[in-house]
Amino acid sequence: MDRIRIIGGKRLEGTIPISGAKNAALPLMIASLLTRETLTLKNVPRLADVTQLSRILGNHGVDITVAGKRAGQSTSDGQTVKLTAEEIVDTTAPYAMVARMRASFWVLAPLLARCGEAKVSLPGGCAIGTRPVDLHLAALKSLGAEIDLEGGYVIARAPKGLTGNKIVLPKVSVGATHNTLMAAVLARGETIIDNAAREPEVADLATCLVEMGARIDGIGTSTLRIEGVPSLHGAEHTVLPDRIETGTYAMAAAITGGEVFLEGARADLLQEALQLLRDTGIEVEESASGIKVSRNGGGLQAVSVETQPFPGFPTDLQAQLMALMCMAKGTSQVRETIFENRFMHVQELARLGARIELKGDTALVTGVNDLRGAQVMATDLRASVSLIIAGLAAQGETLIGRVYHLDRGFERIEEKLGRCGAHIERISG
Ligand code: UD1
Repeated sequence: MDRIRIIGGKRLEGTIPISGAKNAALPLMIASLLTRETLTLKNVPRLADVTQLSRILGNHGVDITVAGKRAGQSTSDGQTVKLTAEEIVDTTAPYAMVARMRASFWVLAPLLARCGEAKVSLPGGCAIGTRPVDLHLAALKSLGAEIDLEGGYVIARAPKGLTGNKIVLPKVSVGATHNTLMAAVLARGETIIDNAAREPEVADLATCLVEMGARIDGIGTSTLRIEGVPSLHGAEHTVLPDRIETGTYAMAAAITGGEVFLEGARADLLQEALQLLRDTGIEVEESASGIKVSRNGGGLQAVSVETQPFPGFPTDLQAQLMALMCMAKGTSQVRETIFENRFMHVQELARLGARIELKGDTALVTGVNDLRGAQVMATDLRASVSLIIAGLAAQGETLIGRVYHLDRGFERIEEKLGRCGAHIERISG
């Protein structure tokens, strides 16, 4: 298994190109199931999750081609992926495929809307109570689907098609909004989704669906109004930049006291996080072509934060902020309100010398002067990148194991950081 080795203490300086957003690319690829025609997606990141989803979609009959790199093109340009689901050959998404990636559960709605049936494994193979999809299922039932659970699979049927309805999501859920939206675009009549997730990736999916012929009002707000259409057509859409990758590299630059230009990043996608970084004493300059982040000589002040649905501070940046706070002056309170038990990085950060106390859903992080390199283990996608951030600032060598988590969501991370002066390498095997 690959590991990442970092020798900390190098100041990051240079330009980091920001890739297309993983969390937008995945639902956009899934939306290709809704039409017989070709959906062309530009700026798709090169990630293990994209490859895995391509396999799942291929199993349903989606024909996928990825444009090769042409002369003069850099690998930092995202790839162009063409997806054509002329015919759905299989409406089952098997356990072995879905278990590896929660987002693949979202094939449920488009398969159901287009074919009138779908059988999709519960994600992660876990019980419905611990990794719930109850909101997804309730919403599809409101649109007229019959849902059964059998042997770890959701079996959804709508032989006469789906019918629009008013749906109030009891909790903000990105995935349930994606699924409901993709079902509603082909349902008969009007669907209203209230308390919809306002994450930019939801807006990106909705915008693409409109480009495919869907009728959706209220994009970017918490009330989406959808007027169903009989069919959708092909389209070309560019995936928006990854706000989580943006925030991650901003914090990496900041912890090393460096200066980095995040090329292609969009500041409007992470205002709350950028404000928080400014509050710690980091300079953040927004421009049309990207965001410049610098901390030249100044110290880091502790800030407190609570994760919230968009436009609040994203849970997907919580672990990274905690790494940054490990070296701030004072004590920071980091409260996780979206996911229980999203603190697996705490014990690994502690191995690097961090002082963190857990109290229920809150971590109290007291800054230290120095972190020291150690062997640590990546436990999930965002947790693993927090260890990279801490490792960049730690004295000596940090060895991070189980980096396959990183490859799911961060494109060529060692190359992007290495170009800015980080001493970082992948050790294969
Ligand atoms: C998506 C993102 C993930 C991010 C999360 C929250 C992708 C691929 N993943 O995950 O990176 O951390 O949004 O911004 O885009 N819930 C229920 N019942 C449900 C569905 C969700 O109770 O049926 C709960 C979850 O347990 C969680 C909260 O709702 O507590 C939000 O989860 P949700 O927004 O659905 O997360 P995902 O879409 O899985």
